[in-house]
Amino acid sequence: MQWCTRNMTDSQKPLKVAVLVSGSGSNLQVLIDAMNAGSLPIEIIGVISNVKEAYAVTRAQQAGIITAVFSHITEGENAGKRMGIKTFERHASAQLNEWQPDLVVLAGFMRVLSDEFISGSPAPMINLHPSLLPKYKGLDTHQRVLESSDIHHGCSVHIVTAELDAGQVLTQAMLAVDHSESAEALQARVQKLEHQVLPWTILLIARGVLNLDAINEQKAATPYLPQLPLKLWLDS
Ligand code: GRF
Repeated sequence: MQWCTRNMTDSQKPLKVAVLVSGSGSNLQVLIDAMNAGSLPIEIIGVISNVKEAYAVTRAQQAGIITAVFSHITEGENAGKRMGIKTFERHASAQLNEWQPDLVVLAGFMRVLSDEFISGSPAPMINLHPSLLPKYKGLDTHQRVLESSDIHHGCSVHIVTAELDAGQVLTQAMLAVDHSESAEALQARVQKLEHQVLPWTILLIARGVLNLDAINEQKAATPYLPQLPLKLWLDS
C-alpha cells in the first residue's frame, strides 16, 4: 500500500481530513473547534456516518461540513434490515474516492472494516482506541482494565490495518487507574485524553513529523522517524 507522502512543503497546506463516525462525535467536535480556531492545520472535507441519528452528524452539519450517511439500518420496503458491511464499504469507498482526503480518521467509528476497503483507501487511515494497545483490543476496554490489576490505562491512535486494533501505534496518552472508580468514570477520564491525543497526532501528521507512508513501509532510515509510540502522560 502506497499513499502520497507529505513533505515539508506540503506541510504548509491544510491536511484534507475525512472523518468516519458512529456516535456522539465529541472527538469530531474537538477537531472542528481546533480547525476553526486555526490551531490545527486541517480542512475537514467530509464526515461519513453509519448511524443516521449519530449526534456526530448534527455536529458536522452545524459546522457546515458535508456529511454522508450510509445507515446500517435500512428504511423503505427493507425497513429494519441491516446493511451489510460490504454495501457500506462500497458507498463509503466511492465517497472517499470522490473527496480525495489526505487522511481518513476513524473517531468513534464502530464497524470493523475489511482488508479490501482499507487497502483501497485513497489515504492512510488512523483509529482512536480507548486502551493502551496492544492491551485490550476490541470492546469494553474500561471494564476490562478495572477487572485487571493494571495501574495504567489510556488511549491510542494507530494506523488501521485489516487486523482489528493491531496496526502500528503512533501515539498514546496515559493515566493512573483508580480501581475504586466506575467504568463510566474511567471512560470519562480517558475521553479527556482522547480529546488531546487525537488533535496532537493529526498535527504531527500534518506537519510531516509522523510520516505514515514511511512508518507503514518501516523505512527505518527515514530521517526524523521517531521511536513509536509517542507517549503523553496526562493524569486527569
Ligand atoms: C471514543 O471513546 C473512542 O475511544 C471510541 O469511541 C468513542 C467515541 O466517542 N472508539 P465520540 O463519538 O468521539 O464522542
